[in-house]
Amino acid sequence: MKLVVQPAARPLDGTVTVPGDKSIGHRALLFSLLSQTTVTVRGLGDGADNGRSARAIAALGARIDKTGGALAITGTGLSGMRAPAAPIDCGNSGTTIRLACGLVAGQPFATTLVGDESLSKRPMRRVIEPLTQMGAVIASAGDGTPPLVVGPAPGPLVPIAYVLPMASAQVKTAVLLAGLYADGATTVTEPGPSRDHSERMLAYLGAPIATRGRTTTVDTRGWDHRLAGAAFDVPGDPSSAAFLIAAAIVVGARELRLPGICTNPTRTGFLDAIAAMGGQVAFEDARVDGPEPTATLVVRGPARELRATEIAGDLAVRSIDELPVLAVVAARARGTTVVRDADELRVKESDRIATTCAMLRAFGIACEARPDGFAVEGRPERPLEPGRVHAEGDHRIAMAAAVAGLCVTPGQHDGLAETVIDDADNVATSYPGFAAALAHLGAEVRAL
Ligand code: S3P
Repeated sequence: MKLVVQPAARPLDGTVTVPGDKSIGHRALLFSLLSQTTVTVRGLGDGADNGRSARAIAALGARIDKTGGALAITGTGLSGMRAPAAPIDCGNSGTTIRLACGLVAGQPFATTLVGDESLSKRPMRRVIEPLTQMGAVIASAGDGTPPLVVGPAPGPLVPIAYVLPMASAQVKTAVLLAGLYADGATTVTEPGPSRDHSERMLAYLGAPIATRGRTTTVDTRGWDHRLAGAAFDVPGDPSSAAFLIAAAIVVGARELRLPGICTNPTRTGFLDAIAAMGGQVAFEDARVDGPEPTATLVVRGPARELRATEIAGDLAVRSIDELPVLAVVAARARGTTVVRDADELRVKESDRIATTCAMLRAFGIACEARPDGFAVEGRPERPLEPGRVHAEGDHRIAMAAAVAGLCVTPGQHDGLAETVIDDADNVATSYPGFAAALAHLGAEVRAL
């Protein structure tokens, strides 16, 4: 699939319901498998990645009933999982495969986990290592890459105190899930503030979990090994919202309204970076429904003068999935924006340091790739060239390129103005309605 984008002819205007948060959706599905009670999941996104987690729990014994717009999930409890009849295909989804490793690490049967071409290149040692320390048996068919065969566990798992080498919510969650099957206190200490949805949602289900500073503990001593809950409401995905917000910031908006977006502080690094650049995003109708805070995010007014910023340390962790689109905003902000401490970008759905820089260069934007990030030259007065971008199968590169395509100045380049983004099918992993949402806001974007 290709995306074809015309330069924005007018400010964006309208209200969009962004799909349910992908990270929270995975957890709502995977954790409901462990519940003794039927859990209703409302607001789940329609992306293919969450669909992979739904199929994974069905393969492990969950029943999934559609009730109106919600799913009623009848899980197996901790001890009732069944051996899957076939390998579980995790598609493009790193969260499905890494969390599933933790979920099945203590089971008395083997589970085979496979993925697509991109997932089959991504590093799994980061989960294999701690889970093996806990007594799990995990074989990789590649060099620490999928396919993986997890289990059967030779005996009960043993608790560990694990210091994560990188800030990773997926690895943290895999260890905490395995910790539910260990007798004693499992602790995970992380170097940076990775997203904490698992801690919030497992606590809601009654897991014996607590966080102090950067250390989270699951302590099963004296616990009845029962998880139970009534419902999860999945709020809007701030990582999907980021593309629409970035578009409104760089081309201007009459009024862009995105209701019900998750505003968990581990996910708002993008908004903090935009604020540091001089962009304005208002929070309205802020509330806390269940485990997560939400708000309506609003952008109003013409594109403002933006200034370059530095994104490093905790801010890089809190904006890791938004860095490709922040790079596009940086191209319209005066000065050089530098992203550091973001080497994790190298092992996402693509090498996002390389693919972000290649995408920017397709528009004539100067960008320097560095081992742990990149530097983007922001020259707001310079017209962007219409880009011909290869998204390398990475949804966030394709959507970031579409935002850049809106900023192309028509008539500057031999009359050509249209940006074409090839290999954009994977937009459907997180935001199948992305092109339609931009079109609804008044942009000319087509998926061909
Ligand atoms: C995710 C965690 C992040 C993020 C990914 C989703 C999750 O990765 O980049 O898109 O749902 O736990 P890390 O595991 O590196 O934190």
